[in-house]
Amino acid sequence: MAGYTLVKAFVLVAMLPFLHSCIGDGGSGNHSGDTRHESSAEVFESPELQGLKLYLGYCFVCHGQKGDGQGPYTAKLADPPADFTDSTYFVGKSDEELYDFISKGGVAHGKSMHMKPFGFQMTPEQIRSAIAYIRVVNRNERIDVSAESGYSAEEIYRNSCVMCHGEKGEGDGRVARMLNLAIRPLNPETLGDYSSAKLFNIVEQGFPQDTSGTRSYMPAWGGTLTEREIIDVIDHIGAFGR
Ligand code: HEC
Ligand code: HEC
Repeated sequence: MAGYTLVKAFVLVAMLPFLHSCIGDGGSGNHSGDTRHESSAEVFESPELQGLKLYLGYCFVCHGQKGDGQGPYTAKLADPPADFTDSTYFVGKSDEELYDFISKGGVAHGKSMHMKPFGFQMTPEQIRSAIAYIRVVNRNERIDVSAESGYSAEEIYRNSCVMCHGEKGEGDGRVARMLNLAIRPLNPETLGDYSSAKLFNIVEQGFPQDTSGTRSYMPAWGGTLTEREIIDVIDHIGAFGR
């Protein structure tokens, strides 16, 4: 636990300006489709913030951390993903149209096969939250993530990490399988490579943009989860593989 105290000190000194500057930069993945958990505790979360978390988990790989269509997977696609910062395009689309597109996918609409039907992995509420977040990006607004959402560490993991890292951290989540990503397991051997400050840094900022290979698929959660939530979720994954 001493490590986490250190991390916390590091966070207070170094991270506050960053947290402010990057709020609204990212999306995020909240709630995995098959393992949805209703919290027994009270959870305070706007649809927009929930959408941001979902976005980072499910959409960022193609649509980009900032929603501009520049994700780590984009270069592999024959058709460019939509740019959610383009208000001229999205202002003309109703929520119903977007819902239909996201749930049924590109092919059903005579568009790109790379835009998968998400109706199988996300609940209707989750799709509506993702749309609420797309609207935020579209209006060039920011989301305030300074308040704790009320989710437990396990719920944060299920909402934001499981789609890539898998139920037990084995790297076999739905998005990992969909994109055929090789993600090494989160276990004492792999996590042992890092100090706790470095682990915080990875979860908060992802890996550097120019990182080649799979690592560029790790989203930055700094504008999405609070410091406390990041520290808690790191604590949670520390128990995998033991
Ligand atoms: C594997 C890549 C990929 C992923 C993951 C992905 N998209 Fe897309 N998306 C695309 C591509 C490519 C297009 C462009 C389709 C076209 O215009 O032919 C697109 C287009 C869209 C559009 C534009 C629809 C329109 O009316 O033109 C929306 C909205 C959208 N995606 C939402 C999402 C959401 C929400 C998620 C996550 C839940 C997501 N996408 C995940 C690749 C992806
Ligand atoms: C869109 C997919 C995706 C999501 C969502 C995601 N990660 Fe990752 N993460 C990755 C990839 C890819 C790597 C690099 C794995 C590798 O090097 O094999 C990674 C690496 C990591 C590492 C470093 C471990 C290592 O093997 O070097 C940690 C810690 C981590 N993720 C934690 C999280 C946490 C916590 C969340 C949820 C808040 C999360 N990740 C959500 C894709 C994701």
